[in-house]
Amino acid sequence: ADTRRESLYVLSGRAAKFFSDTMWESDEGKTIGLSYFRERGFRDDILKKFELGYSPESWDALTQKAISEGFKEEYLTETGLTIKNDKGRMYDRFRARVMFPIHNFTGRVIGFGGRTLKTDKSIPKYVNSPESEIYHKSNVLYGLFFAKKSIKDLDNCYLVEGYADVLSVHQAGIENVVASSGTSLTTEQVRLIGRFTKNITILYDGDAAGIKASLRGLDMILEEGLNVKVVLFPDGHDPDSYVRQIGSNEFKAYIDKNQKDFILFKTSILLKDAAGDPIKKAGVIHDVVESIAKIPDSIKASVFISECSNLLQMEERILITELNKLRLGKA
Ligand code: UTP
Ligand code: MN
Ligand code: MN
Ligand code: MN
Ligand code: MN
Repeated sequence: ADTRRESLYVLSGRAAKFFSDTMWESDEGKTIGLSYFRERGFRDDILKKFELGYSPESWDALTQKAISEGFKEEYLTETGLTIKNDKGRMYDRFRARVMFPIHNFTGRVIGFGGRTLKTDKSIPKYVNSPESEIYHKSNVLYGLFFAKKSIKDLDNCYLVEGYADVLSVHQAGIENVVASSGTSLTTEQVRLIGRFTKNITILYDGDAAGIKASLRGLDMILEEGLNVKVVLFPDGHDPDSYVRQIGSNEFKAYIDKNQKDFILFKTSILLKDAAGDPIKKAGVIHDVVESIAKIPDSIKASVFISECSNLLQMEERILITELNKLRLGKA
């Protein structure tokens, strides 16, 4: 079984090399893939470090190459690099896309994300590897292998949504960054970060979906006993587009200035909707205390209760009563 897993790793690594060779060496790869990344502003050293590549516009270039090199058909389909249709015809999953290899935290390639270069809304922007024996997407954080040292050194981890966000933030000199890659954050992912630091700062997209995912993510992080802050970006921006617009130094300053602890973030988001309505405000208080109730450490929880009390002009005693009810599962 171990030799089988090893073969899947070797094949995935081989595929990453195929995609990067195609991007750096073939005419199609250079004019389409490499130009795309360069036009987006990614430097060559980042493209090389993250082993980015390009899958050619061909039905089965990778599949044929791998078979000719002796890789078993079964491994090609298990990794999802090859799709076999009803008629038994085999074709490449990734065609005419720029390729982002996904590494596990020891640095081995376990899967891929491939971005289309077309603006046509009818095709998915990203195609990803399916679950396989070596790739379980809920246990993986994109970029962790390249970030883990910096996460440990700085004792903090920035969490972004997408592949491009990781690359741009990293390129800006902030290397302690990983992505949940579109899937909503999982407990396993939070625990994985928890092996390197207890502090997470969420940098999700500045749109309704990103805010919703931040609120959900912060509860999840609190439940695992980690500390969480959130930075909200101007509407329509994600970390990648924003750092590109304002530059690395301004971006760092923006993060430092705008990071909010979860109480401040959650109340400011929720109070916007409440707009002075006392019943809605009561709902906000309840929601915020609900998040505090997820914190396993009761001393930490009581510190947040007093912050909440100041912020919402609410007596601490009342908040504590509510907290205790929630802890006993009564509210
Ligand atoms: P976004 O839609 O925010 O894309 O999805 P992005 O990362 O900003 O991509 P660019 O800048 O247009 O290239 C965030 C992440 O969600 C996953 C990807 O991991 C993406 O990076 N996603 C998104 C998918 O898996 N499939 C999709 O079709 C879209
Ligand atoms: Mn498994
Ligand atoms: Mn988004
Ligand atoms: Mn983006
Ligand atoms: Mn985005």
